[in-house]
Amino acid sequence: MRGDNLRLVICIWILFIHRSCFCNFVVEKNSLKVTSPESLRGTYECAIGNFGVPRYGGRLSGLVTYPKTNQNSCKNFTDDIHLISKKPGSIPVFLLADRGECYFTTKAWNAQNTGASAILVADDRPEHLITMDLPEKEETLDYLQNITIPPVLITHSLGVSLKKALESNNLVFVNLDWTEALPHPDDRVEYEFWTNSNDECGPKCDTQIDFVKSFKGFAQLLERKGYTRFTPHYITWFCPEEYVSSTKCKSQCINHGRYCAPDPEQDFSKGYEGKDVVVHNLRQACFYKVANESGKPWLWWDYVADFGARCSMKEHNFTKNCADDVIKSLGLDVKKIDECMGDPEVDAENVVLKGEQEAQIGKKGVRGDVTILPTLVINNRQYRGKLDKKPVVKAICSGFRETTEPDICLSNAIETNECLHNSGECWMDTVANLTACKDTFRGRVCECPIVEGVTFVGDGYKHCEAPRVPRCQVNNGGCWKSTKDSKNYSACIDEYTVGCKCPPGFKGDGINNCEDIDECKENRVCRCPNCKCKNTWGSYECGCNGNLLYLREHGACLSKDANSGSGWGFAWSVVLGVIAIGVVAYTFYKYRVRRYMDSEIRAIMAQYMPLDNEGEVLVFRSHGDI
Ligand SMILES: *[C@@H]1O[C@H](CO)[C@@H](O)[C@H](O)[C@H]1NC(C)=O
Ligand SMILES: *[C@@H]1O[C@H](CO)[C@@H](O)[C@H](O)[C@H]1NC(C)=O
Ligand SMILES: *[C@@H]1O[C@H](CO)[C@@H](O)[C@H](O)[C@H]1NC(C)=O
Ligand SMILES: *[C@@H]1O[C@H](CO)[C@@H](O)[C@H](O)[C@H]1NC(C)=O
Ligand SMILES: *[C@@H]1O[C@H](CO)[C@@H](O)[C@H](O)[C@H]1NC(C)=O
Ligand SMILES: *[C@@H]1O[C@H](CO)[C@@H](O)[C@H](O)[C@H]1NC(C)=O
Repeated sequence: MRGDNLRLVICIWILFIHRSCFCNFVVEKNSLKVTSPESLRGTYECAIGNFGVPRYGGRLSGLVTYPKTNQNSCKNFTDDIHLISKKPGSIPVFLLADRGECYFTTKAWNAQNTGASAILVADDRPEHLITMDLPEKEETLDYLQNITIPPVLITHSLGVSLKKALESNNLVFVNLDWTEALPHPDDRVEYEFWTNSNDECGPKCDTQIDFVKSFKGFAQLLERKGYTRFTPHYITWFCPEEYVSSTKCKSQCINHGRYCAPDPEQDFSKGYEGKDVVVHNLRQACFYKVANESGKPWLWWDYVADFGARCSMKEHNFTKNCADDVIKSLGLDVKKIDECMGDPEVDAENVVLKGEQEAQIGKKGVRGDVTILPTLVINNRQYRGKLDKKPVVKAICSGFRETTEPDICLSNAIETNECLHNSGECWMDTVANLTACKDTFRGRVCECPIVEGVTFVGDGYKHCEAPRVPRCQVNNGGCWKSTKDSKNYSACIDEYTVGCKCPPGFKGDGINNCEDIDECKENRVCRCPNCKCKNTWGSYECGCNGNLLYLREHGACLSKDANSGSGWGFAWSVVLGVIAIGVVAYTFYKYRVRRYMDSEIRAIMAQYMPLDNEGEVLVFRSHGDI
C-alpha cells in the first residue's frame, strides 16, 4: 500500500509542477460505427474527450466532412462556413480534424462555431487511444465552458481510411454511440465525487461550486429514494519523511506530514494554508460519515453548498466557527464531527483520511488513480466531459439497467420517448390501447405489458396475448363484487363469455351493483307456521317462536324439549316412515327370493320330466355353469 501511495504522491507532485501525468490512467471509450461506405462498414473504438458534452446513454448519427483548408481546425472556419448547414432539421455533420498544432479544445470550439454536431479528431500517429484533455493554462480560455459538442478521438488508421473514402467522393455516414460508455449492471448507480473545500483555485473551483449547487436537487432526490449510493471523496497526499519538519510541509499538512493539500493561492506567505484546506476537507468527509450514520447521507450536498456560499476564503470566513454554524443549521451534532476529525496536530493516522488516500488508488483496467480535481466516478468509471448538471444527469441515468431507471431520467428534458412513434416498432393493440414498448434511458425495450395485474405473454415484438386465465381473474370480468364478513360475493361467472349475473340472494345489473334481496318481504320463504323471518346480506334466516328449533331442510320447528308433542310427532313420523320403507323393502326381497326359488325348483324338476317351456331349461343351464 505504501508503495502505491508513494507512486501517487510522486504523481501528484509532478501534476502540480508539470501538469502532466504518467499515472495509472484509464481511457474512457465509446463506439463509432461506420454505416457507409460499404468498404469501411464496422464498429471502431474511440476515446471520449475530457471536455465538451459527451452524450452518455445516447447515440448521434451524422455525415463526416473534412475541410479542404484548416484541416486541423485550429483557425476559425470563415471560408468553409458553407460546408455545414445550420438550418434546423438538416442532417448533423461531424467535422473530421487532424490532431496537432493547437489545443483539442480550440479545435472543438472552432468546429462548434461552424455548426458541426461533433468533432472527430484523427490521431496524427499510430498509438493507443488517449484522452483529449483541457489545456494546461485553462484560465486564459474563456470559451471552455461553452463547448457543448462531444469531442471524440479516433485512431490514426481510421482517420486515414475516412479521408480516403471522402477523397473518392463517398458519403461517409457514422453513428456515434455512448450507450455502453458506462456499465449499467443493476438498478442502483454508485458514484463518487472527488472534490475539494478550496474555493480559490480559479475557474475550476468556481465550476465545482456551481456544479454542487445545480446538481444538489437531483442528487438528493435519487439518494433519498435509494436509486443511487453516493460518496464524496477528497484527495490528499503525504509529505516525504525527510521534509516533514520543513515549513512547506508544516503549512500544507496535518498529522505530522501525513495528509497534505497544496496552498490555495500557491503563495505561502499570505491567505489560507494548505492545511486549512485539509482540515475543511476532513470536516466535509466527517460530515458525510456522521450524516450517513444517521441515515441522511444526502445532507452532505446541503452542507457543501451552504459552506461554499457562507464560508468562502474570499470572504475570509473559511473557519471552524463558520463551518460549525452550517453544521448546526442542518441539525447535525458538531461534537460527533469533531470526534471523527480527531486532533490534526497529533502524530498518528486519521482513519477517515487514511481511507481517502487508499481510495485514490485505482483498480487496474477499471478505474484509474484519481489525481485531478474535480473527478466524478460513476459505476467505477471515470466520467469524461464538462462538469455540468445536464451531462452528469445523463451519465448517471445511463448507469441504470434498462427499465429500472427512475422516472426523472425519462422526463422529456433529459431524453426522448422512443415509444411515441408507432410504439417503437413493438407489439401493440390499437383497439385496447395496449403496447409492449417501454421507454428506457438508453432507448426502448419491447416487453409484453401488465394490464390490471395480468402479465401478457409473447415475444413483445410481434406477439403478446393475455394468458388463458378464467376471465373472472382479470378485474373480476368487469362485474360487481363485494366482501362482507370475510366472505366474497361476485357477479362474475367464468362460464359466461360476456355479461355478469348477481349471485343468488342479490338482484341488480351485476356490473355496477347487486343489491341484497329482502327474501322475507318478497315471499313466504320460511314455510313453518308462525316462523320468524330475518333478512341477511345475501340470504335470510328463519326462526321458530319460543324455544323451538328450526329445521331448514324440513321447513319445520322441532322442540328442544323431549315432552313436547309437536316435536315428537315429527320424530315419530320419521321413525314410522323408516319402518314402513323397511317393511316394503323386506316384502319385495321375500317376493324376489320366492321367485328365484320357484325357478330353481322347476329347473331341478325339469331334469326328471320334460317341460314344454324351453326358456326355463336355459335358465337351468346357465346356473349349471357355476
Ligand atoms: C472565431 O469565431 C467566433 C464565432 O464565430 C468568434 O467569437 C471568435 O472571435 C473568432 N475568433 C477569431 C480568432 O477570429
Ligand atoms: C460563453 O457563454 C456565456 C454564457 O452563455 C457567455 O456569457 C460568454 O460570452 C460565452 N463565451 C464565449 C467565449 O462565447
Ligand atoms: C453509509 O451507510 C450505509 C448504510 O447505512 C453503509 O452501507 C455504507 O457503507 C455507508 N457508507 C460509508 C462511506 O460509510
Ligand atoms: C462570516 O461568518 C460569520 C459567522 O458565521 C457570519 O456572521 C458572517 O455573516 C459571515 N460573513 C459573510 C461575508 O458571509
Ligand atoms: C392510450 O393510453 C395512454 C396511456 O396509457 C393514454 O395517454 C392515451 O391517451 C390512450 N389513448 C387512447 C386513444 O385512449
Ligand atoms: C376473497 O377475495 C380476496 C381477493 O379479492 C382473496 O384474497 C380472498 O382469498 C377471497 N376469500 C375467499 C374466502 O375466497
